[in-house]
Amino acid sequence: MPNKKIPFSGFSSVAIHSGHDKDPNYAHLTPIYASSTYVFDEAEQGMRRFTGEEKGYIYGRWGNPTITEAEEKIAALESYGIADKHGNAIELKAILHASGMAAISTMLIGTLKAGDKILSHYSLYGGTQQLLETVLPPLGIEVIIVDLRDLNAAANALQADDKIKMLYLETPANPTIQCVDIDELTILAKAYNLIVAVDNTFATPYLQQPFQFGVDYIIHSTTKFLNGHGTAIGGVLIGKDVAHMNGHMTKLHRLLGGNSNPFDAYLLTQGMKTLEVRMERHCHNAMEIAGFLEQHRAIKKVNYLGLPSHPDFNTAAKQMKHPGAMLSFEMAGGLDAAKKFIDKLQMCIRAVSLGTCDTLLCHPASMTHFSVPKEKREQYGITDGLIRMSVGIENVQDIIMDLDSSLSPS
Ligand SMILES: Cc1ncc(COP(=O)(O)O)c(C=O)c1O
Repeated sequence: MPNKKIPFSGFSSVAIHSGHDKDPNYAHLTPIYASSTYVFDEAEQGMRRFTGEEKGYIYGRWGNPTITEAEEKIAALESYGIADKHGNAIELKAILHASGMAAISTMLIGTLKAGDKILSHYSLYGGTQQLLETVLPPLGIEVIIVDLRDLNAAANALQADDKIKMLYLETPANPTIQCVDIDELTILAKAYNLIVAVDNTFATPYLQQPFQFGVDYIIHSTTKFLNGHGTAIGGVLIGKDVAHMNGHMTKLHRLLGGNSNPFDAYLLTQGMKTLEVRMERHCHNAMEIAGFLEQHRAIKKVNYLGLPSHPDFNTAAKQMKHPGAMLSFEMAGGLDAAKKFIDKLQMCIRAVSLGTCDTLLCHPASMTHFSVPKEKREQYGITDGLIRMSVGIENVQDIIMDLDSSLSPS
């Protein structure tokens, strides 16, 4: 039985062993505890559990052993190799949610109040953008959008408005794969006492660890690379103020009811064990494919953080281990060419979402961003001919062959 307290020297060892407690029935893997409630030996024990005097599960919305393992594993991965100013390993608390959106909602509701404002970047996941722009304003919370790649613009926005209480980042971001500088922006935000939250979905803790730069919260849609196989929707909120996470945030999470479930948590736990090997292969494939697409005459532009032509190449190199598995490209022939290309694919999959073993392609203008007015989305670089690609871990020559034959004019 591996001791989870051993300071593992490698990311995969942490991914495989952390969070796992010996099962009382000696099952190798923590089983799916499909139980909505938990038994008390006597009334007194129930009371002790409710007061927190005795550790133990009470009710499924409040916690579950299969979910706990996934939460502890994610916290271990996001804290891997990071020490505090005294040289001690940082401690984090993760709360698993039913979806990435549920995790973002808990974080926002748990940290902001009417009158507060959020500063964010214009390139964000469509759902997050809608949440910020349509759900929060009636609650009295506003979002201010600037190009956060421009530090002066961020500084000016902060100077102009003392109601800004949170900096919300997503990097790399959907679907033009833009990157913002977590380190510089966090230094700036902390000078104004802001809470800093980062959506780390595209990068995963293997490629990027925002807690290293002093952010307060990380969110993931675990649906993506952390699960890795496209088998479950999920999300996680991770915080570095463990007492606050165990107190206020846990209470809120239980009351809002965006809890995960044991089956999805089990799938996530198994998926995370291979994160390092999958990400290495994803990124290797993405680099090869970006190079192939960049020289193809049917392609006008490739957005990949590993190409020096990407405007955020240096920012990505500064804060990410590799440039990731997400890329997008613009077809020279616009909308018609994009549709024809997508329809011709034989092996790669036509679908939204990302981070699965298989390669997924989508057409943002008609799918993820269909509700955004054309003028606005084009301003964001989401043109009619743009295709987004989540590069899978198939043999890269097969992906290239499928792309090549689908790009041919015949
Ligand atoms: C970057 C990012 N954040 C959050 C979400 C929302 O996650 P979920 O679909 O799990 O709610 C998504 C979904 O695609 C995403 O891409």
